[in-house]
Amino acid sequence: MADCPTLHTERLLLRPFEDSDLDAYAPIVMSEEVRRSLHLPDDFSRSDAWLGMAQWRGQWALRGTGQWALVEIESGLLVGRAGLHRPEVPDWPGIEIGWVLDPRWWGRGFATEAGARSIEYAFDQVGADQVCSVILPENVRSAAVATRLGFTLTESRVLPHFPEAPHDIWRLTREQWDRHPPASASPPPAAEEEDHGDHDRTLY
Ligand SMILES: CC(C)(COP(=O)(O)OP(=O)(O)OC[C@H]1O[C@@H](n2cnc3c(N)ncnc32)[C@H](O)[C@@H]1OP(=O)(O)O)[C@@H](O)C(=O)NCCC(=O)NCCS
Repeated sequence: MADCPTLHTERLLLRPFEDSDLDAYAPIVMSEEVRRSLHLPDDFSRSDAWLGMAQWRGQWALRGTGQWALVEIESGLLVGRAGLHRPEVPDWPGIEIGWVLDPRWWGRGFATEAGARSIEYAFDQVGADQVCSVILPENVRSAAVATRLGFTLTESRVLPHFPEAPHDIWRLTREQWDRHPPASASPPPAAEEEDHGDHDRTLY
């Protein structure tokens, strides 16, 4: 089972979270926009952000899936996280592809770019036949990312990690992806992959 690898897209480095990311990551998940979208509490703290980073590294180590820290290559800045999510939540609909960006970096296509690379990883490295995205209906920006990536909204249901409201479940099969990958999905020719030898309570 692979631990968290480092991947590249045209504009982003997808790499494992490091302890030193906390100063940049905590304000992202503590921002009002992200807290509102993910229904995180107002007192969501730096400690909670650290736990989130540790959980992503832990999921990679235990399950071979997880999310990456996203670094914009040009500036070297941490701009968010994205990747695969396979939590131990009853009735979870499969390998989820997810994305969270620093609000200052919304509107540049980074979530779609990182999402595409994550989907490729799920199909080519993890061997998934299908991926999903679990999105609250009000989260139109996230639904737009899913639509751009070719996901289809297949059902709405209440999941145990968030009993307050139904989530929309978007799905994308390998066959659909092979037929219609978005242009941004192809890694640049010089893309390198290094192996680093190695929420909702499931989502921060
Ligand atoms: C969901 C979220 C990641 C979407 O971010 P986003 O910036 O809207 O999505 P993308 O990165 O794909 O960017 C797409 C936008 O960039 C624009 N764009 C600009 N330059 C671009 C480029 N070079 N390539 C592609 N798109 C580009 C697109 O036209 C699109 O603009 P629009 O929003 O006006 O239609 C962000 O809103 C977020 O972090 N929300 C809080 C966390 C969250 O809800 N996560 C999902 C939980 S289910």
